[in-house]
Amino acid sequence: MASWTVYCGVVAIAIFLLRRLYLRVAHTASDHRSQLKPRNVSTSKERIDVAKAYQITPLADFDWQAKEPLKFRTFKPKYHLTMGISNLSLSELIEIDRNYLSRIKIRKQIIQDHHDTVIQASPASRTALNELYTWLTGSYLPTRFPSMFTLSPTHLLNLVTSESLPLQPPTDPIQTFELLGNNLDEDFVLLLPSSDGDQYELKGFVTCFPSGFNTKEKFGMTLRDIHTPVPGYKEKLETSMDRFFARLEVGRVVQRSNWAITTHGRLFAASGTHLYEGEEPEPEDIDTFLRCERQLLHRLPKSKALVFSFKTYLYPLSDIKNEGLGEDLAQAIDGLKEGSVPAMHFYKRGVVWGEAVKSYLRAE
Ligand code: HEM
Ligand SMILES: *[C@@H]1O[C@H](CO)[C@@H](O)[C@H](O)[C@H]1NC(C)=O
Repeated sequence: MASWTVYCGVVAIAIFLLRRLYLRVAHTASDHRSQLKPRNVSTSKERIDVAKAYQITPLADFDWQAKEPLKFRTFKPKYHLTMGISNLSLSELIEIDRNYLSRIKIRKQIIQDHHDTVIQASPASRTALNELYTWLTGSYLPTRFPSMFTLSPTHLLNLVTSESLPLQPPTDPIQTFELLGNNLDEDFVLLLPSSDGDQYELKGFVTCFPSGFNTKEKFGMTLRDIHTPVPGYKEKLETSMDRFFARLEVGRVVQRSNWAITTHGRLFAASGTHLYEGEEPEPEDIDTFLRCERQLLHRLPKSKALVFSFKTYLYPLSDIKNEGLGEDLAQAIDGLKEGSVPAMHFYKRGVVWGEAVKSYLRAE
């Protein structure tokens, strides 16, 4: 009888201890799981809070007519071909300034005159485009720029142009791109994964202000093939770009900017900013600008497509001189030949305008 009691007691204590041990092990295991999860899902050290990233900060009393265009002065003494990206918030996706209305007028004209060069959309891009459009019209624009865009139950009203945009995107993606192109001074390119999934391809765009290339000729191409004319791209950028594009997280926005000298003030330049091997430089009149693009890349949360958007800035060279940066820009022009890809000087047509621009910049 007594031994039976002792036996039961020992079994009870054993069960108790085993249960505690089990709970502890299970607990630790779940700790491990919750620690591993973010690392498995995201490749970056810091996980992005997507809901927070999509909380857009309003510019409450924004007066577009008083807003000066951003000044990009990113030329360096020596040109090194790198991605050169920095982080931005999603709130900063669209930049609006006092040139808004005049730019919108030029854009509408260009869309009329060069429609198929500046807008193309593959059927496959429609889902991503509708996602971008629905978010911009129904959420981003009225939140960020309430003094310029207001919502009705079915439309977004552009208070500057008195145009109204349907919140429901049109059936034809071409029309959706027209609406974006006619209302924002921003060019948009949609990139979708290729069928084998390891490259991004240009599947839809509205680009009113291409800087020396014809976007229609790039339509359907992979990121690599788009960049074949760029000297040094294959050797210096291709691998890191492909990896970067494949991994960019939803909620993250990156920015880069470029610079070029143009010997004309035309915003739509489907050719002419770049010189390819075998082309002869022609002497040109001097009506010369520093041309920069504010380029942004982000991933749409549902379709996971990539959106490359850019805004184009033209600065008269006299601005640069008046800011006391003439000598810096003159050095940067020579520096195109002295960095990691000396062929950049020829590609950017330095042979055409280099000497004249430098002597202008250096003159008293
Ligand atoms: C972070 C991303 C990117 C980097 C680092 C990059 C880099 C460059 C560089 C260095 C050039 C040479 C001219 C210049 O200085 O701008 C260039 C040209 C160009 N890029 Fe990109 N690029 C990027 C994304 C894209 C995307 C997403 C597209 C379009 C889908 C694109 C389309 C072009 C085109 C069309 C040219 C002109 C090529 C020609 O002369 O025909 N780029 N890019
Ligand atoms: C930019 O953001 C990403 C993702 O949040 C982060 O991993 C990276 O370190 C940031 N880069 C810089 C320069 O702050």
